[in-house]
Amino acid sequence: MRKPIIVGNWKLNKTIAEAVDFISQIDPVVHTDADFGIAASYLALQASVAAAKNLIVAAQNMSHMDSGAYTGEVSVHMLKEVGVKWVILGHSERRQYWAETDQSVNLKTKKALENGLTPIVCVGETLTEFEAGETEAVCRRQTKACLEGLTPEQVSGLVLAYEPVWAIGTGKNATKEIAQNTCALIRDEVKANFGDEAAQKVRIQYGGSVKPENIKEYLAEEDIDGALIGGASLKVDSFKAIIDAVKA
Ligand code: PGA
Repeated sequence: MRKPIIVGNWKLNKTIAEAVDFISQIDPVVHTDADFGIAASYLALQASVAAAKNLIVAAQNMSHMDSGAYTGEVSVHMLKEVGVKWVILGHSERRQYWAETDQSVNLKTKKALENGLTPIVCVGETLTEFEAGETEAVCRRQTKACLEGLTPEQVSGLVLAYEPVWAIGTGKNATKEIAQNTCALIRDEVKANFGDEAAQKVRIQYGGSVKPENIKEYLAEEDIDGALIGGASLKVDSFKAIIDAVKA
């Protein structure tokens, strides 16, 4: 019912030339059993959009401001100008290292949607929160706060990503049971705030040490509709193996 969506988050990797080279190898082999995409650095976005015929090209962040004295920021209008239609918002690395909050993620989410971009909104608990049994409370709070003020239609069309911080870049993936349980409760929080239809339509990715070897077991779970992939999205071979693995 919900088409899976697999996005490689390149983080602070790949120059323009490297991004274009990667896309030229991957773009021809994607299939239609899932949506596939990459999230490139700001500088590589324009060339990536030009090189990608099948892949979604996403930014990894954007400002919630339109313009002004905000050194180092990139606006939604600048992303649109280079043809970007997707943006990752609230990634845990942005929350941890650049002090992003649910409130700033909410402002960015609204800004993206108002301007026709599809956001991939990330939520997820830290290791301390996980060990304290706070996963459900944290993920419900983040989901509610990040989506506050949106319409059910807007929520239906966006993508949520459950990314337990303790599983990102650590090689320690969440078990499929943990990932499924948490994606289900995030969907339930969407239902509580936006109704059943939005909850059934919204796609929820799992992210955290997803690899060619484990992607299928996540996608087999009822409430997991794809993956946000860091490390394993950087090499052509492993990205290709992921694309092959999700072929229906
Ligand atoms: P990882 O990163 O696959 O390297 O754990 C996931 C992410 O940050 O989206």
